[in-house]
Amino acid sequence: MSTLTIFDSVPVQASGETQAPAASSRPIPAVLGADLQVPVKGGRLVGYANLDYAASAPCLEPVSAAVAAALPAYSSVHRGAGYASQLTTARYEQARHTVRAFVGARPDDAVIFTRNTTDATNLLAGCLPAGTTTVVFDTEHHASLLPWRKSVRLAPPAFPGEAVRAADEALAGIEGPKLLVVTAASNVTGELWPIAALAHIAHRHGARILVDAAQLVPHRRLNLTALDLDYVAFSGHKLYAPFGAGVLIGRRDWLADGEPYLKGGGAVRSVEDEAEWHDDPEPRHEAGTPNVLGAIALAAACDALTATGWTALVREEERLLARLRSGLASIEGVRELSLWGDDHPRVGIVSFTVDGYSAREVAEALSSQYGIGVRDGKFCAHPFVRHLLGRSGHDREDAGCEDGTTSAVRASIGIGSPQEHVDRLVEALRDLVSR
Ligand SMILES: Cc1ncc(COP(=O)(O)O)c(C=O)c1O
Repeated sequence: MSTLTIFDSVPVQASGETQAPAASSRPIPAVLGADLQVPVKGGRLVGYANLDYAASAPCLEPVSAAVAAALPAYSSVHRGAGYASQLTTARYEQARHTVRAFVGARPDDAVIFTRNTTDATNLLAGCLPAGTTTVVFDTEHHASLLPWRKSVRLAPPAFPGEAVRAADEALAGIEGPKLLVVTAASNVTGELWPIAALAHIAHRHGARILVDAAQLVPHRRLNLTALDLDYVAFSGHKLYAPFGAGVLIGRRDWLADGEPYLKGGGAVRSVEDEAEWHDDPEPRHEAGTPNVLGAIALAAACDALTATGWTALVREEERLLARLRSGLASIEGVRELSLWGDDHPRVGIVSFTVDGYSAREVAEALSSQYGIGVRDGKFCAHPFVRHLLGRSGHDREDAGCEDGTTSAVRASIGIGSPQEHVDRLVEALRDLVSR
């Protein structure tokens, strides 16, 4: 018996799922840097309010501890007979298993460690069968929008059902291999996408689906098997594991046939005049010495989130997010960006504009006067942000900065975000607009 919600924002259960069950809840782990002091105008030091988790989240303490524990025996992987090399190899391969379980991947899915999400989408792009057409919405992050050789781009859909309808229509008109690419949670608005319904539509047309889960997995449980996704990509540095690793998980066949991502040692079985490449996707696409500590860190983050349990994590995030959004809504001239409306489910990411100020002015004032870190710009999602800002209410010249067009401010929260940071941001903006 399976239970899925269209936005997959609640824990998913499905028969045969391979995801490790949540252990009995442990306290929410701490993050490093919670006591960071930063200078503000006048030379005073204040506690840093990190509201930029969507760019890169701070390191979880258990992640830092796992890396520290692995370092004394750090050695090469897959090459050495020495004990340290065997131990490090075992840790690296265990990390693969942990990440596989974290996203509920099928037992035969490939789990390839990459540098980040961008690296993962580019790896898959290089493995698509000849002539594959990719269908992608203009709402995507550039990492998922740009790597494709041949793509059909769809306009931002006016409501979730329209996303499914537009994908249905586009896929129906394509001959040959096809891939639908979609984000699970927007890095601009935090809004959740109907990935289960989109996977269903893709498969009805004989297409595959790649889900960019970079902004989902730090906030919600994802089950690749239950959702019937073909590929998932995400980054360690957004998942509280900033050690330079990301991952691509999914069906083996395209990856086994694709050109090796890097050509070199580890990807080959033997070399005479010609190289004989590994058929297994993992060695085939992980040539050279891999980022072992990054993989160990990523796995430790997966373990820590699973051990804490999603119920506690989601409850706390939703409480803070509601407080942040209602605070912003109470300030005249502050306007939140949203594709599908106020009530649509979302993760802890909010983008907004402030009447009379450019996004850069707001971000700089928040940093220099209040010790608050946010992001400003178009968040590597230029077509989407342009679309949102072009809609009524945001298309004012005074929102302009960066490259002469328009941009927005983004605040994002996660594990370790205290209520005081949210309140400080709201009060700082109130202060700013009242001047
Ligand atoms: C939704 C989404 N996809 C992909 C990326 C790219 O991630 P990375 O920079 O780790 O490759 C980001 C980063 O902001 C993102 O938010």
